[in-house]
Amino acid sequence: MVTKVSPLRPPGPKGHLLSGNLPELRRDWPGFLTRCTQDYGGVVLLRLGNRVVYFVADPDGIETVLVTKSRDVIKNFALRKSRSVLGNGLLTSEGDFWRRQRRLMQPAFHRQRIAGYGSRIVEMTEQMLVSWKHGQVRDIHADMMELTLNIISKTVFDVDVTGMAHTIDAALNVLMEDFTQRLSSPILFLVPASAPLPANLRVRAAVQQLDALIYRIINERRLSGEDHGDLLSMLLHAQDEDDGSQMSDTQLRDEVFTLMLAGHETTALALSWAWYLLAQNPVVEIRLYEELQHVLDGRIPTMDDLPNLKYTETVILETMRLYPPSWLIGREALEPFMLGSYDVPMGTTLFMSQWVTHRNPQYFEQPKEFRPERWADGLAKRIPKYAYFPFGGGPRLCIGNHFAMMEAILALATIAQRFQFRLVEGYPIALQPSFTLRPQFGVQVHVHARDIKPSKL
Ligand code: HEM
Repeated sequence: MVTKVSPLRPPGPKGHLLSGNLPELRRDWPGFLTRCTQDYGGVVLLRLGNRVVYFVADPDGIETVLVTKSRDVIKNFALRKSRSVLGNGLLTSEGDFWRRQRRLMQPAFHRQRIAGYGSRIVEMTEQMLVSWKHGQVRDIHADMMELTLNIISKTVFDVDVTGMAHTIDAALNVLMEDFTQRLSSPILFLVPASAPLPANLRVRAAVQQLDALIYRIINERRLSGEDHGDLLSMLLHAQDEDDGSQMSDTQLRDEVFTLMLAGHETTALALSWAWYLLAQNPVVEIRLYEELQHVLDGRIPTMDDLPNLKYTETVILETMRLYPPSWLIGREALEPFMLGSYDVPMGTTLFMSQWVTHRNPQYFEQPKEFRPERWADGLAKRIPKYAYFPFGGGPRLCIGNHFAMMEAILALATIAQRFQFRLVEGYPIALQPSFTLRPQFGVQVHVHARDIKPSKL
């Protein structure tokens, strides 16, 4: 005789009858998820309307979902619904199709291959600084967004988008804002993308604008057949090792679109939040400047300097601990499995939040303090692997992680040896948790030019 065992469910806060825990989440996603972990532990049961969600904050649980059970889960509903915009690119595709694309694209992101982009990153950062003046007030987040858009456009398809930056930025903004709206009212995810609602029409217009640009570049490249040494050239020539097939224009569009969306704002945020934290932590700022003086002595950084810019690297790591650009990732169970002692029924949504786990005092002493030096003595090896996961993990680990680190370190080093910043007093800094973790009103700063010898530049 088979004894029926009732499924073991994690504990969690009682939700409203129809909306579940949505009202609290909508008010403050990061805050509510943090409180849930404090009150209920490493795995918490939540409800978004009628959707059952396990919030997994415990590093071993995160490893189970992202690594051990990676074949039993797919990306969660919110990302799947974004396919109408993102297409079937690396971020949203699944199964054998995703595996083939990842295999085709991986070589383009090898350390040696991306090293070639280092000098362009520094050059573009220098170009941006030409117009910066001592005493100015700037929205440093807007600056970082423009810089990383220029960098990603140049590396993906060797195009200088300075003139088009505004159009691209506006289109990407429409898409991000639409996603934010849907995250706070998940019912909107049920509305088909084809429904003629104002929000859908705005998104469609933004997608059309970006598509026109991307297809034009793909066409020109196919016609000229030139190898520009950029990611698009690599993707155009990439061949599947099994059947020798190449990507169609639609697939190229989807991958290029995905790289722009995934690689632009995330890196900008790592830098924007770094300036925000540095502006409030003068001791860290001094140590950073000392390292830059010692290693670079006023010259521009190159790829060869990276191994020596250790403190600069920890400033980025620590920034992404406190303000992870990707702050919430999700999966959905295709098959039932066990998560520690809990059953995960098929169809369960699983959320993991870098914001919550990175601020857990169990793994990080004084978790709210900005202390880059905490990384210096091998902390990464002492904590559980998934106590810190700014780039996700397992097979779906961010493909651009080395690129992003290189970009952030080189840009930070180039800017920080010429300028320092102070926050404009009274200007509000508010978190806007969307697909990424944005400063809702930007980051307004006073610019202070450092006194360095021009001959060295
Ligand atoms: C600081 C910067 C960045 C952060 C914090 C970041 C974070 C992440 C995270 C957390 C994921 C995994 C999402 C999941 O598991 O659901 C991811 C995936 C991805 N990222 Fe990044 N990313 C950054 C920069 C970049 C850059 C520069 C690029 C491209 C040039 C890029 C391209 C991608 C792509 C294509 C994926 C999907 C990979 C796959 O599923 O195979 N990212 N990123």
